Amino acid sequence: MCGIIGYIGTEDCANLILEGLRRLEYRGYDSAGIAIITDGRFEIRRAAGKLDRLAEALRGEPVSGTIGIGHTRWATHGPPTELNAHPHRAGDVVVVHNGIIENHRVLKAELLAEGHTFSSETDTEIVAHLVSRERGRGHGLVEAVRLALLQVHGAYAIAALDRTDPETLVAAKNASPLVVGLGDGANYLASDIPAILQHTRRVVFLDEGQMVVLRRSGATFQHIATGAPFEPKVQVINWTPAMAEKGGYRHFMLKEIHEQPRAVTDTLRERVRIERGTVELDGLNLTDEQLAGFSRAVIIACGTSWHAGLVGEYLIEQFSRLPVEVELASEFRYREPCVDEKVLVIAVSQSGETADTLAAIKETQSRGSHVLAVCNVVGSSIVRLSNSNLMTHAGPEVSVASTKAFTTQIAALYLLAVKLGLARGTLQPGRAAVLLQDLIEVPSAIETVLETPASEYVALARRFGNATSMLYLGRGTSFPIALEGALKTKELSYIHAEGYAAGEMKHGPIALIDESVPSVVVCPMGPHFDKTLSNVAETRARGGAVIAVTTPSGAERIGSDADAVLVVPEAPDHVMAFLTAIPMQLLAYHIADFKGTDVDQPRNLAKSVTVE
Ligand code: M6R
Repeated sequence: MCGIIGYIGTEDCANLILEGLRRLEYRGYDSAGIAIITDGRFEIRRAAGKLDRLAEALRGEPVSGTIGIGHTRWATHGPPTELNAHPHRAGDVVVVHNGIIENHRVLKAELLAEGHTFSSETDTEIVAHLVSRERGRGHGLVEAVRLALLQVHGAYAIAALDRTDPETLVAAKNASPLVVGLGDGANYLASDIPAILQHTRRVVFLDEGQMVVLRRSGATFQHIATGAPFEPKVQVINWTPAMAEKGGYRHFMLKEIHEQPRAVTDTLRERVRIERGTVELDGLNLTDEQLAGFSRAVIIACGTSWHAGLVGEYLIEQFSRLPVEVELASEFRYREPCVDEKVLVIAVSQSGETADTLAAIKETQSRGSHVLAVCNVVGSSIVRLSNSNLMTHAGPEVSVASTKAFTTQIAALYLLAVKLGLARGTLQPGRAAVLLQDLIEVPSAIETVLETPASEYVALARRFGNATSMLYLGRGTSFPIALEGALKTKELSYIHAEGYAAGEMKHGPIALIDESVPSVVVCPMGPHFDKTLSNVAETRARGGAVIAVTTPSGAERIGSDADAVLVVPEAPDHVMAFLTAIPMQLLAYHIADFKGTDVDQPRNLAKSVTVE
């Protein structure tokens, strides 16, 4: 949600900023803008809609300069118009902002009473006025930004420029992500790494309450509260720029689906010790004794990560007999949760910036729980806040619809389940070695699923893509996979899709079935096959079409009882979720492609949900 980019150096930076914004498009936005200082004046271009509109504005009236900021806005206060697009200006100051200023009404009333006038409906413009007011009181830009932020409550990442000081770019962070890129004679600022990766790999992730002053010669860091300087931790990012590009696929989503064998392999690399039947989890700051001492685990997450958590629940309970609850972070945070130091909290998040998950983590930490982050982004807020981490190595996930993050999260939770089982004595190394062997065979089984000709999915998309409603059903770990299939379908193709535990059908959803409602039934051969087959029959008996996702032996048993079958390889039940997840992703992708929706940036959605 909202993207920020900043540059100070010696290059003409309009295109560099525009390119950076394009790499932040995945975050979701509905207007964009740029401000550059040229000969002591601001050149500001803004546009409602996609970045092409901003590019058009820049072609119409080109700007040049070697210091500037850019922004993609995801509307919260005021509609996505050009007037509400950032940057916002007050006097000599411009500001871009990601997040929400919670006390904006009070501040605006105060500023209006002092004679300030506003040209937008945004909360951001207030920050520009606050900084400008501090400048008017005689403070330099850096101190003016700091003093302004002390008056602001809420979540923000901001960047500010002053046209009278073209040697300084100031930025600050409280809750919304901001990364500083350190270059040679040039320095950068961005909401996320891919935006600056082609310029530098040396980065500093700002923490809450920190600010940075970028100059051509370098960057200095200080705390917002006191102004006291500090030495930052510089990290070197090993993602290549190509890892963040489409790599020949039509959409990022399709590329990311096909990256899953590699992503899962990378997540397992150097963690599995088959010969000893053990796992080594770097970043886990808990001894085996501590792991054995927990009375239960609570998994907190949102969306797709929550579905991965549900698969994790089955695995952890099965391998370690540790009771697990899986909670939606957005609900959990407000529930005065019953957790303490005996509860292991596992926070699952691709981005590491999801506001609800962050708030839920803080809630559990205040009650003494140890929080383990299962996360894809090194240095993200959730990783920094958590007590331990288990990184997924999916690489940058650009498409809003999560795919490779999901399977790598399941891989990480599988490793954790084995680790817990060994620590708690419910798994012996011999059995753990078998489970780990099954796990390391997953990437090649996913490759087999990916070999299914696209034409099979295209045919299904043509046949069922005009449905207005779909059901997704499954039992065991196929239940969260059904939930995930329904989520992928609704977010990508805007078809109303519901995921259900197949056993729940008779308790209500079966009333929905008729000729117009196709059902995707996830029923691989395994412990739940026969029961789920009954659901297939019940659905067909009511005129509903069935797409069965099953294994070769399942397909043989189903025969003509389903209208279509998507086949995944036979595999043990505990790894089946990895395989059945893939047809869910591909089916949703092809239906969306058939319908012509914006696959990588579905309407109303943002990749990183940094506000409530
Ligand atoms: O970055 P996170 O994993 O914390 O994000 C959570 C959800 O917003 C995310 O999984 C969302 O549901 C996906 N876009 C779905 O594809």
